[in-house]
Amino acid sequence: MAAHIPDPYLMYARLREKGPIHRKVSRYGHDTWLVTGYEATRSVLLDPRLSRNPHHAPQWMRDQELTGGGVLGINLLASDPPDHTRIRRLVSQAFTRRRVEALRPRIQAIADDLLEDMARYPEVDLLESFAAPLSLTVICELLGVPAKDSADFRRWTRETMIPPIDEESKAVLRRGTLAMKDYLTRLIDEWRGRTSPRLAPDEQPTLTGALIAAMDEGDQLSDQELQGTLALLLMAGHETTVNLVGNAMAALFRHSDQWRLLRETPDLLPGALEELLRFASPVEMAMPRYATEDLTLAGADIPAGGVVLACIASANRDAAQVEAGDSLDITRPDAQAMLSFGHGPHFCLGAALARLEARMALESLLRRFPGLKLACPPESLAWRHSAVRGLEKVPVVLG
Ligand code: HEM
Repeated sequence: MAAHIPDPYLMYARLREKGPIHRKVSRYGHDTWLVTGYEATRSVLLDPRLSRNPHHAPQWMRDQELTGGGVLGINLLASDPPDHTRIRRLVSQAFTRRRVEALRPRIQAIADDLLEDMARYPEVDLLESFAAPLSLTVICELLGVPAKDSADFRRWTRETMIPPIDEESKAVLRRGTLAMKDYLTRLIDEWRGRTSPRLAPDEQPTLTGALIAAMDEGDQLSDQELQGTLALLLMAGHETTVNLVGNAMAALFRHSDQWRLLRETPDLLPGALEELLRFASPVEMAMPRYATEDLTLAGADIPAGGVVLACIASANRDAAQVEAGDSLDITRPDAQAMLSFGHGPHFCLGAALARLEARMALESLLRRFPGLKLACPPESLAWRHSAVRGLEKVPVVLG
């Protein structure tokens, strides 16, 4: 995981020159396969012989608590068909495009309030003052987590995303996991009470309420699966979106010509957002996949139990797929997020929400503070040690 390295892209470009897949010895002394080419990454994400279920992970990964299984329990991103198909169908039914679209006015109101608050200070951290509270409020309201508890969620989410590299980080990760599980158990109990008897016809159930109602009707989701799904939605739905806004703004500040162009032509924003997703994706590496049988991938022989790491950040810049992929160009005629939301059965369920939120965040920011500037040299921005690629801070002068 290279999420804290300021510029891993040169290393990825060199690897792609050598080939699409590379055998690497992990820090624990075991072989893993790093996939850097676009086509190979796409096929890894589609291959049913590569499992996402931690039960198929090799023992050394489980011993080192590297499978993430403990954090979320049973959830979409840690399961294979047929369990994955069943849970995904249920969550997709509750997490509809209509439900996402209905959030538009609320997202705008939250963004406007935050920007108004920010205007009182000459300099702020864009992540803590804007991107984080925006994304956190939206996901908590969507799931029915009371506002008073959202700060706890931010802390637990961050704790559960710490790479478990030593005993101290493992302890923090376990603490966050336990606290989040405990809280979600209580939230589910509370919602159970509220969804029965049924809501009034004009009352919108939260996503959690809709999931519980569907679950009680057909007995299709166990309590453990519901808890894992909620934890996944909170974690996947928060930290990624915060860092999309942060990474996108940092990339624009680093490419002042592109930043100027966007300020002068705000209509470029939809295409610019796709390009920024491709160029500065918060998900650098897909979750590990485990070979369930001996197989050959892009010419490499991988034994059963082998760990395959699909590098989205590298695939998104592959010259075979995108011209001058290491350049940021917000005017690309066919700009695409490429593999930033994954591909295949585990394709991001929150992609529409993430796009809506990020677009509204950037639009509102540009409109309210057209003179926005980075308050430090771009080289001094530091990347966080986290499973999601993001910056420690993005200090800005509002202008
Ligand atoms: C899966 C990226 C926002 C919910 C994924 C995957 C990626 C991704 C790459 C696939 C991982 C893999 O196959 O290993 C992103 C990015 C986001 C974002 C870049 C923001 C910029 C969200 C939001 C939500 C969400 C806002 C929900 C509120 C999920 C879920 C899955 C997922 C539930 C698992 C789907 C499955 O396994 O079937 N996301 N995500 N994501 N994402 Fe997102």
